Amino acid sequence: METPTLDLIEEHSGIMLMLSIMGKVSEKLNAGEVVEKEDLNKILEFLSNFADKCHHGKEEDMLFPELFKNPANQGLVAELIDEHTTAREYIKNITEAMENYATGTSEAATVAENMEKYILLLTEHVRKENSDLFPAANKELSEETQKDMVEQFEKFEHDVIGEGKHEEYHGWLEDLKKKYLD
Ligand SMILES: [Fe+2]
Ligand SMILES: [Fe+2]
Repeated sequence: METPTLDLIEEHSGIMLMLSIMGKVSEKLNAGEVVEKEDLNKILEFLSNFADKCHHGKEEDMLFPELFKNPANQGLVAELIDEHTTAREYIKNITEAMENYATGTSEAATVAENMEKYILLLTEHVRKENSDLFPAANKELSEETQKDMVEQFEKFEHDVIGEGKHEEYHGWLEDLKKKYLD
């Protein structure tokens, strides 16, 4: 059965791949090497649209409220929401630094610094969701609720990022992987 947590876990693997790419990119930035602005803009769009608006949006609007109904989950859910907020601050810092970005500038260092913070935060965040929150969701949410949520996710994805964008982002991931990791 297609389930909400399987969908989110699949998105987590895309996000984790992007984190590896960002690790390599920030190394290059810190070494004063050239990183094309176009690549940085792709990473930024992926983080703000795919990871934040779409993925964190599904969690915050649909999954978290269901799990919050059980007091036993409330501490963890609050912590995860806080982490989404911090991740947004790092994305905002990167967006601002991109305005005057050029190789070897202090803006390049700011981009690298915020990427590194984002990597640390999201690695632990994804681990917590995969190992603590999602098993609770699979156990506690009825089959009916999960089925409805899968439909809500599809509609949300369509409304928020639009037709075909998901595939385009996966294409970017593959291209950036080849360029920075292979
Ligand atoms: Fe999350
Ligand atoms: Fe997540």
